[in-house]
Amino acid sequence: MVETIDLVKASIEAGKGLLRPPLEGAGPPPESRAAPVLVPIRSLGVNHRDRIAHHLMSLEPRDRYLRFGFAATDEQIQRYADTLNFERDEIFGIYNRRLELIAMAHLAFSVDPDLSSCAEFGVSVSKSARGRGYGARLFDRAAMHARNEGVSRMFIHALSENTAMLKIARNAGATVERDGHESEAHLQLSPATFDSRWSEMVAEQMAQTDYRIKVQVKQFWDFLAEVQSLRREVQDAQRGSPN
Ligand SMILES: CC(C)(COP(=O)(O)OP(=O)(O)OC[C@H]1O[C@@H](n2cnc3c(N)ncnc32)[C@H](O)[C@@H]1OP(=O)(O)O)[C@@H](O)C(=O)NCCC(=O)NCCS
Repeated sequence: MVETIDLVKASIEAGKGLLRPPLEGAGPPPESRAAPVLVPIRSLGVNHRDRIAHHLMSLEPRDRYLRFGFAATDEQIQRYADTLNFERDEIFGIYNRRLELIAMAHLAFSVDPDLSSCAEFGVSVSKSARGRGYGARLFDRAAMHARNEGVSRMFIHALSENTAMLKIARNAGATVERDGHESEAHLQLSPATFDSRWSEMVAEQMAQTDYRIKVQVKQFWDFLAEVQSLRREVQDAQRGSPN
């Protein structure tokens, strides 16, 4: 169970890094960078649709294949993003300091009335952000939400070769059944409690606050970059003037 104090500590830790200027074109962080215990994962609304499409389109062909079970084209991804139902389903995302969506998960609730207590989970993490535990954290976050929404079983369809996804599911206690080159994992969820509802509320608040701070910090650095570029232009003009 995620403790509220851990959420507060994680928020403070995340805040420390925010004031470092985001380096344009900076490569992936060094391997040694430790994964934060708690990651600000926010629920995404309809205004994030374009960034969802952009994140998915930036996946390499093999990752698209692993994510969707087929080699999804840009058009198919665009259609998927365009038809996401933000009212019915829950979409979670992780943003970096440059406000790029680096990981997302889709918790799709069953539309079949006989299976109303079921939901399906799908996830993707940008290549540069892999191996930091984001996939597993998104899984935990989705499971917490599903549980609080009265879902008793969460399903994950994955290709049998998808070691990372199946590991995430197994680590969370899911049962994995292999059927040739495809596998299905299902996780039994316990009923919601006051704690699970409270934890989700705190986690969402923390993530929304983290996002708002990232927006403000980005605006600040963009403004500073503009001022610096103006100053350079003036200096260049002065150097180039005849007197
Ligand atoms: C699957 C995916 C989401 C994992 O994301 P991630 O953030 O790198 O995963 P995590 O860092 O949370 O790692 C989770 C576990 O998988 C393991 N793992 C990660 N990558 C692995 C790999 N390539 N091979 C084997 N194990 C791997 C980790 O060691 C960790 O296990 P541990 O906690 O026991 O050490 C990511 O690889 C991805 O986006 N793949 C393409 C899309 C996809 O396959 N989606 C899933 C189908 S819906």
